[in-house]
Amino acid sequence: MDDISALAKRRGFIYPGSEIYGGIAGFWDYGPLGVELKNNIKRAWWRQMVYEREDVVGMDAAIIMNPKVWEASGHTSSFTDPLVECKICHKRFRSDKPEQLAAHEKDHNEPVEWTQPKKFNLLTEVLLGATEPKMTAYLRGEITQGVFVNFRNVVDSTRVKVPFGIAQIGKAFRNEITPGNFTFRSREFEQMELEYFVKPDEKTAAELFEYWKQERMRWYVSLGMTKDSLRFRDHESDERVFYAKFATDIEYNAPFGWSEFEGIHHRGDWDLSRHKLTYADPETGETYKPWVIETSGGVDRAALFFLIDAYREDGKRVILGLHPKLAPVKAAVFPLVANKPDIVDKARAVYGLLKKRFVAGWDDRGNIGKRYLAQDEIGTPWCVTIDYDTLKDDSVTVRDRDTTKQERVNIDQLIHYMEEKYEK
Ligand code: GAP
Repeated sequence: MDDISALAKRRGFIYPGSEIYGGIAGFWDYGPLGVELKNNIKRAWWRQMVYEREDVVGMDAAIIMNPKVWEASGHTSSFTDPLVECKICHKRFRSDKPEQLAAHEKDHNEPVEWTQPKKFNLLTEVLLGATEPKMTAYLRGEITQGVFVNFRNVVDSTRVKVPFGIAQIGKAFRNEITPGNFTFRSREFEQMELEYFVKPDEKTAAELFEYWKQERMRWYVSLGMTKDSLRFRDHESDERVFYAKFATDIEYNAPFGWSEFEGIHHRGDWDLSRHKLTYADPETGETYKPWVIETSGGVDRAALFFLIDAYREDGKRVILGLHPKLAPVKAAVFPLVANKPDIVDKARAVYGLLKKRFVAGWDDRGNIGKRYLAQDEIGTPWCVTIDYDTLKDDSVTVRDRDTTKQERVNIDQLIHYMEEKYEK
């Protein structure tokens, strides 16, 4: 983890939030490469979940909603973690995380007396308005409710018919008691979610629950995550969140143990009932409350696990073997020498060509070997060198990050060459 967080900071993936003022627990800033990685994850997700399907539409709801939404959804009363306080130093912990309590006892070198667990609500309050008393609202604790409160709007303004889904990506906020494990447990994070509405029927719901579990697992594997480092874990009835009839997590075998980064939930008609919403079948006229199968992934946790999974060392080479679709920079362009205008001009032209298609990098410092090392470390799949032969025959050397093999490719074939591999 230390290697990953050091690399993330040094190369501009992830910085601690508000660092020059001493930081703030549970908040992180994404740098120039981090924003590309996150955008690539979100784009790939949206493509699979919305563009490639006929039964899913997207939306983007406001972060702050009328507080009545959170009362109706049950979050103001039930969206809680059990909090205990150490009677020696008054630090607070979650009592459902025994490993954290044990670690704290070790720090004190003596048994700790804990206060009785009390329910701690995770919603983050905000005050709105210019006059007193201000209105207390909440930053959304899950992006989900924005979809449910717009259920009727979407049905009325589009041609969707049950079964159908609404997809959304956006920020959520939780006042976590113990943020930690780098970005894993943050107070501000992004979610990518699908709410899939089905006719209330146990068999249909069970089939779709299984279908979405497999779809979501397949997606992570298709983007290069190691299959053996992934597993499903069903929630026991006593750990299920208040809205879920069934829940399964997709977990990754992280350096800090198997950890959830996506949940598949059978929410039944919990939410539509609470918001008093129904659906009228346009063909039969039948009115009912659809059930919801939800897939809820964390963008930041996915980014963290893609980084961890891709990280490897090979002698003095550090390599981020990210799938080309996720790599922040797809290709880096190098003029062999920086002091020959013909070569630099040609390299600039190739750089301009590649930049029109995807994120390309430029490096003319030091020797080529060092430039390769710098690109390997940020996961750039291809390095393109413009040399003396390029001036004669318009071909360039393309070096592959994973095999380190080099091939001569004609400039007018370059984009096609990369796209062929890129789409794999
Ligand atoms: N709408 C359902 C829902 O919010 P959840 O299991 O509470 O379900 C879904 O959250 C996903 O959101 C998690 O699997 C995780 O990836 C992400 N997530 C939740 N809390 C998080 C936190 N404190 N920091 C980072 N990501 C978080």
